[in-house]
Parts: sequence; C-alpha cells; structure tokens
Amino acid sequence: MKLDKKMVKLLNDQFNAEMYSAYLYLDFSNYFEEKGLNGFANWYMIQAKEEMAHGMMFYNYIHENDGALKLEAIDRPEGNYKDDLKVLEEALKHEEYVTSLIDKIVYEARDLKDLRTEHFLAWFVNEQAEEEATARDLITKYELFGKDGKGLYALNDELAGRTFTPPQM
Ligand code: FEO
Repeated sequence: MKLDKKMVKLLNDQFNAEMYSAYLYLDFSNYFEEKGLNGFANWYMIQAKEEMAHGMMFYNYIHENDGALKLEAIDRPEGNYKDDLKVLEEALKHEEYVTSLIDKIVYEARDLKDLRTEHFLAWFVNEQAEEEATARDLITKYELFGKDGKGLYALNDELAGRTFTPPQM
C-alpha cells in the first residue's frame, strides 16, 4: 500500500517537528549548562536524544512505506528565557503543541482509512500523554523545591541521574 501524498507531507512535517523538538531541548540544556545546573542540563539533553529518536521513527516509517522523505530547514529556538521556571513551562507548552500535531495526523489517517499509519501513530499518542505528565511533574517539583537553595540542589541532583533508553514501539 502506498502512502497518500497528503499523509507523506504530514509525516515529513512531523519528522521536522521532532527534530525541532530535539533542537529546542538542546537549547534548554544549553541554558541550564550555562547556569551551572548540570542535572537540569542532563535532563534536557536526554530529552533532546529522545526527540531525535522520535524523528528517526518517522524517518524509518516513511522509508519503509515507500514515501519520499524531504529534509527541510529546522527552525531556530527563540531563546531569551526569563528564568528557570519559564523554561520548564515552555517545555510543557511545546509538548501540548506536539500532541495537537500528532492528533491531527491521526484524524487524517482515519479520513484516509490508512490503518497502518493510524496504528503506527498510536505509540505517539501514548508517548505524548507521558511527555506532558513528565513536563507537568517537573514544574510542580520546581515550584515546591526550586526556590530554596537546598531544594534546588537536591532536584538538580535527581535530574542528573536520568539516562537515555531508546524508545521501544
Ligand atoms: Fe517527540 Fe516530546 O514529543
């Protein structure tokens, strides 16, 4: 079965969006690295790797289904983060946006009766729920502990322990 042209375009766009997500999280990692919060920097570095892996899942899916992949330019993150909490809030806002993009492709797959793509996207629907919950959780932790020096130190230490596990479908 050949992918519909409209679907190929959406999957290409999502490949680019995942790569942009990686770039955005690398920017967050860079922000925290410069502040000396290496645990937060590690957290977002791992997040960037996850996003890159998500992008590759779209890359492989397009190729495996005989679609044409186009590598477009990746936007520059806006930067200028006002404070630490703003970065964490940006992450949640971004994940909510990515959820809306994934949902849009699912609806299109349904319209096209493209069950294979709908099935492929189911993993991402679940992943987005997890990503939003994790981003929300980090905001809560920061609000509870981040404003006190000792609390921030402990939270930074906790985030330093995150390691990268390649996503499994
Ligand atoms: Fe690939 Fe964080 O969504």
